[in-house]
Amino acid sequence: MRNRVYVFDTTLRDGEQVPGCQLNTVEKIELARELERLGVDVIEAGFPVSSPGDFRSVVEVSKAVSEPVICALTRAVEHDIEVAAQALEFAKRKRIHTGIGSSDIHIYHKLKSTPEAILERGVKATRFARNLVDEVEFYCEDAGRSRPEFLAQMVEAVIDAGATVINIPDTTGYCLPDQYGALIDYLMNHVSNIDKAILSVHCHNDLGLATANTIAGLRAGARQMEVTVNGIGERAGNTSLEEAVMIMRSHYETLKLDHNIDIQRIYPASRMVTRLMRMPVQPNKAIVGRNAFAHSSGIHQDGVLKNRENYEIIDPQDVGIPASSIILTARSGKAALSHRLDKLGVTLNREELSAAYDKFLLMADEKKEINDEDLMKLIGQEVKQRVLEIESLEVVCGSNDTAKAAVSINRNGVKAYNEAAGNGPVDATIKAITEIMGLNVKLEEYLVQAITGGSDDLAKVHVQISQDDTFFHGFGCDTDTVLATARAYLDAISKV
Ligand code: KIV
Ligand code: ZN
Repeated sequence: MRNRVYVFDTTLRDGEQVPGCQLNTVEKIELARELERLGVDVIEAGFPVSSPGDFRSVVEVSKAVSEPVICALTRAVEHDIEVAAQALEFAKRKRIHTGIGSSDIHIYHKLKSTPEAILERGVKATRFARNLVDEVEFYCEDAGRSRPEFLAQMVEAVIDAGATVINIPDTTGYCLPDQYGALIDYLMNHVSNIDKAILSVHCHNDLGLATANTIAGLRAGARQMEVTVNGIGERAGNTSLEEAVMIMRSHYETLKLDHNIDIQRIYPASRMVTRLMRMPVQPNKAIVGRNAFAHSSGIHQDGVLKNRENYEIIDPQDVGIPASSIILTARSGKAALSHRLDKLGVTLNREELSAAYDKFLLMADEKKEINDEDLMKLIGQEVKQRVLEIESLEVVCGSNDTAKAAVSINRNGVKAYNEAAGNGPVDATIKAITEIMGLNVKLEEYLVQAITGGSDDLAKVHVQISQDDTFFHGFGCDTDTVLATARAYLDAISKV
């Protein structure tokens, strides 16, 4: 059996339909180019009949990228299919993705039809699409809850009608991995013309099983997987590209499945999706979450410092993350403390380290996370009482660069004042502080969370900045979101 798995990315279609994640055409082109660099085989660029904007995006993405196949979604409706073919005019390699519900619940309660009539509609739509393009993918919506016998009948009929790829979506994220794998296995063995098409897995994450189901489907013989970067998508999301790809890589000996993804581009692609879709990744998200390679317990830190593989099954640098991070907290051990001091150019002998560690534990009990400045203070090397704090902050709201911020910072006892304009109070504040500090840093991530909800709530701000490929985190908290932002930004800067 062929072992090459085709990666069908639907970040721009299933991902983009998430409320708040809509992209304009320019942003879609930027993301499509990144997906091309990542090495996906197919980009599902949109649902052209759904809006003029979606139509335009499919046209522009088709012009902007040349390697991947460009795919457009339709219902099993001739007008949808004609519009999709028009939108794909400029694509070097084009695919129409059409289909219809195949479960009894969809057939009787959504489509108000019968299995026979639905089968006929599916076949007609496939023939119609196949007259317009060479590659037709057919989706059997809600396949995960469909009767396997009817599904096999439908798959066989649409392959006869010219479908080249058959998508078996677990639309509602209902299946268990062994059930989904058994469904794919059933189709591989009960569809007489299955050798003329590729089965595709498309799983949703309503029960947190999307990735497991995808892998089960591939193990049963599917050779295309439909995924999104960061797992964004309808409701609880779709299978995450980075998880499925890294499972294939980590378990190559067992799965023997190949793909074309350049795994070094995983993290940059993840960051781009977060930035463009304004959808932060949960810190504990596998592969790309902020904590995915952060070690905070003493035993783990010691183990990682002795040999990374003690507690890491993936080298973060392989997926484009600069390095794993050792977070110094009250649970850190002497090994982690000594490692960080070493990075700061401080070498202590055994007794000095023990004494510093006792002081460190006292400090860590007071303060949740110990930064480099705290450490220098702790070992008596601080530059007197180093201070970097906001003295005052005044902002005037507005958009289109009419917002203003006036910031005063106490920097080692010396006050520095600056004013800046920005596209909002946060932007103006960040610009004012950056100018005062005179640093060349880039804001990589900005995340605001309300702690409990309510308009009088505390805002917790997390920022990540970078300088020369090194990342620094900062946190700030206040009832005033802009002040919390300024504190978080200064906290990160203090670590540069
Ligand atoms: O989840 C699903 O069933 C889909 C289809 C439209 C392919 O996204
Ligand atoms: Zn879907």
